[in-house]
Amino acid sequence: MSTPIHDRLLIIDFGSQVTQLIARRLRELNVYCEIHPYQNVSAAFLADFAPKAVILSGGPASVLTDASPRPPVEVFDLGVPVLGICYGQQVMMHMLGGTVESGHGTAEFGRAYVTPSKTKINLLDGWFDSDSEQVWMSHGDHVSAIAPGFEVFGTSPNAPFAITADVSRNFFAVQFHPEVHHTPNGARLYENFVKLAGFTGDWTMSAYREEAIRKIREQVGDEKVICGLSGGVDSSVAAVLIHEAIGDQLTCVFVDNGLLRQNEAEEVVTMFRDHYNMPLIHADEQELFLGELDGQSDPETKRKIIGRLFIDVFQKHAAEVGGAKFLAQGTLYPDVIESVSFSGGPSVTIKSHHNVGGLPEKMGLKLVEPLRELFKDEVRSLGLELGLPSSFIGRHPFPGPGLAIRCPGEITREKLGTLRKADAVYIDQIRKHGLYDEIWQAFVAILPVRTVGVMGDGRTYDFACALRAVTSVDGMTADYYPFSHEFLGETATRIINEVQGINRVTYDITSKPPGTIEWE
Ligand code: XMP
Repeated sequence: MSTPIHDRLLIIDFGSQVTQLIARRLRELNVYCEIHPYQNVSAAFLADFAPKAVILSGGPASVLTDASPRPPVEVFDLGVPVLGICYGQQVMMHMLGGTVESGHGTAEFGRAYVTPSKTKINLLDGWFDSDSEQVWMSHGDHVSAIAPGFEVFGTSPNAPFAITADVSRNFFAVQFHPEVHHTPNGARLYENFVKLAGFTGDWTMSAYREEAIRKIREQVGDEKVICGLSGGVDSSVAAVLIHEAIGDQLTCVFVDNGLLRQNEAEEVVTMFRDHYNMPLIHADEQELFLGELDGQSDPETKRKIIGRLFIDVFQKHAAEVGGAKFLAQGTLYPDVIESVSFSGGPSVTIKSHHNVGGLPEKMGLKLVEPLRELFKDEVRSLGLELGLPSSFIGRHPFPGPGLAIRCPGEITREKLGTLRKADAVYIDQIRKHGLYDEIWQAFVAILPVRTVGVMGDGRTYDFACALRAVTSVDGMTADYYPFSHEFLGETATRIINEVQGINRVTYDITSKPPGTIEWE
């Protein structure tokens, strides 16, 4: 590990569903942290990571079982503040000489109220301004005797040791989850913790930018790097950052697969080639993709064809660069976190996602992933810091297989043309009404159904389309956006008037689950 220029906090993960939220709360305080599963944290790891503070997460296990998850005992010898949360609290007590017992009617799930003891500690600055604080509990076992050196600073009816601390060693243990929304004052607790640990809030985007540039230069040296640019936020930010670090040693490959939105190819190529002066290969492979997709209507087959062709095409054009040793990817932190899974077993594949998996090994390339430490909103801030226009940074996600999965059934050029126009009108409407940033993703799907209509005095027999707009935090779950009837009516009229080939507009009000965001 190279010496970081910012302070680091280590979160040891014991498998709680909400460990990522701890990281979010800390990043909001401009504190750099990393989540590592407990199995990967050895004494040597601790020495190398050199955290300025440690948080032990919650988790579903019981310290009373054999082989229950533990942090290395050296965590308590680092001389840095340690905060144990829920399971983290129990494991801390257990290892430091306290006692943990199982349920016996004292399990607590959901809302609880903690009241303070007489003595105040820094961790609780801004807490207990009224008599009690609402917190979120979720535990079966409970601490029945605290470890030597600890004192009680907060209790709830079912948790006499809701907040305890060994102030001399800066060890803190809470039974509840301060990171969740249902502990309304929880962020303050993290703020106090990082303050007493001496963090200065040095995790800023400009600091990150400098550090990332230094690391990219160190990693790449004089070698060449290629980058698959999709026009999406992640690959764009990665490309601009790497270009800033190594200039023309980077070449981007933009593949036009014929499944892009209106004007998308021109916009991306103009921005990166003309505005950023990046060496960019514009691979116009529309014929190839649309040719191979001809006659295919099965969603998975379509996805597989697109994924395979993308890799072939990328490889072909990357070879034109000659001698590239690295492949740049816009991998984000949530893709990297190896959270502890106690349930085991692979999850069911709902859709095969299109990515460039397997490419690096196949081409013998090493990876450059400068966004690996960032959450999506941090990537957006970095993009702004690098001067990408906010209209570009705030764009809705667009899937790798593009319009192919918004065109259920067989894909034809005619349908794609009609879809592009309808989509452009819909997005224009959303922007004009000032709704774009409230919506996670909005698009039109053209349906494989022709319907009868009447326009002027004539009969029409054209395609029906569905409008989709959802709100979401991460794309994993989603709800439909509650447009007004006026908006929907006006949009339907515009689409039918302005787009030849569509004579019926519907609005999709399915949430996810049970629907998915895309139609295929
Ligand atoms: P679904 O349709 O599964 O989509 O609810 C969730 C989010 O992922 C995007 N999506 C993809 N993105 N390659 C991508 O890069 C894909 O194959 C793919 N399929 C879906 C989708 O647009 C939504 O934001």
